[in-house]
Amino acid sequence: SIVPVILSGGSGTRLWPMSRAERPKQFLALTSDETMLQLTARRTPEDAGYAAPIIVGNAAHADAVEDQLNAIGVAPSAVILEPMGRNTAPAIALAAIAAGAGEQPLLVMPSDHVIADVPAFHAAIAAALPLVSDGWLVTFGITPDAPETGYGWIKVGAPIAEGVHHVDRFIEKPPLDRAEAMLAEGGHAWNGGIFLFRADRYLEVLNREAPDMVAAAQASMDKARRDGIRVWPDADAFAASPSDSIDYAVMEKAQRVAVVPVAMGWSDLGSWDALDAISDSDDGGNTHAGEVIAVDTNNCFVRSDGLRVALVGVSDLIVVASGDDVLILPKGRSQDVKKIIEALKAR
Ligand code: GDD
Ligand code: MG
Repeated sequence: SIVPVILSGGSGTRLWPMSRAERPKQFLALTSDETMLQLTARRTPEDAGYAAPIIVGNAAHADAVEDQLNAIGVAPSAVILEPMGRNTAPAIALAAIAAGAGEQPLLVMPSDHVIADVPAFHAAIAAALPLVSDGWLVTFGITPDAPETGYGWIKVGAPIAEGVHHVDRFIEKPPLDRAEAMLAEGGHAWNGGIFLFRADRYLEVLNREAPDMVAAAQASMDKARRDGIRVWPDADAFAASPSDSIDYAVMEKAQRVAVVPVAMGWSDLGSWDALDAISDSDDGGNTHAGEVIAVDTNNCFVRSDGLRVALVGVSDLIVVASGDDVLILPKGRSQDVKKIIEALKAR
């Protein structure tokens, strides 16, 4: 059966001040009562034929991972706790090794994405599975509607099977002019960051493109400390791994890469504007969560996890209060939250 691999190592700084190093985005309840990690784990239930998931994340978050999954009755087969971040390519290598490095398909999923239409997601997985068994690396393609430079882009090629296409080219994080050209040209998809491939095939490609990475992952797992489902890869061995993403290290370089275009209400919730876009608003066009009083206020997105927030006579703002911090910005500017993070780091 398919082994879900949930990547939980990101720091998700663009949703500051709610998302913080000690409690990043995947551990927050942003779109429902459940956290992004819980919603992710629920998408691949054992009673739908999936194996128990493997979680790969930061050692600092071990308790958060286990508590949140425990709360929804999901029992991972392993929680792999990285001593430091080496980006997604080595993280997935750890999971592939933990899964036995054999022919079993791995479904690699970020822990912090929204998928509104889960049946469509399952249908896409089912369409991909025969090719995956044959050794193809499969990714899921999202119809682009903006010249996004923060995503991977896929030139969608000829069909291979029902719903599955060749990847003619994989372009990770293109410059703006290239993204604009691809959007205008059509025939491209965004890479959704969700992958399906056999564990052995992933390791084989990675070993060809970045053998040091596979060697470091293998050595760190050989010398890992284990306690129940928790696995701590050896820190010195893992530290020796180069840092790179699956997109650059594997997807841009591999042969036999396929894409399944799928409309599944996907969002990577990469900013407050992105969360605003998928949130329901009230009669005044405002969206709020927490204790918020809004008088004569239009089209504002307001969230608080404690402080009472009161607004009068404003419009088109994003206001987020969390802990001792309050963030205020006009809608459309939320990518610039990273400038605040830089300013905070410099203090
Ligand atoms: N375990 C672990 N260790 N997880 C990690 C690490 C790491 O070192 N680094 C990142 N992750 C997790 C993040 O938590 C996230 O869930 C996922 O891996 C993807 O990492 P991002 O850092 O968010 O990648 P990205 O947004 O720059 O780009 C990827 O996602 C886009 C879609 O959202 C790429 O796959 C793009 O091609 C894609 O379009
Ligand atoms: Mg991301």
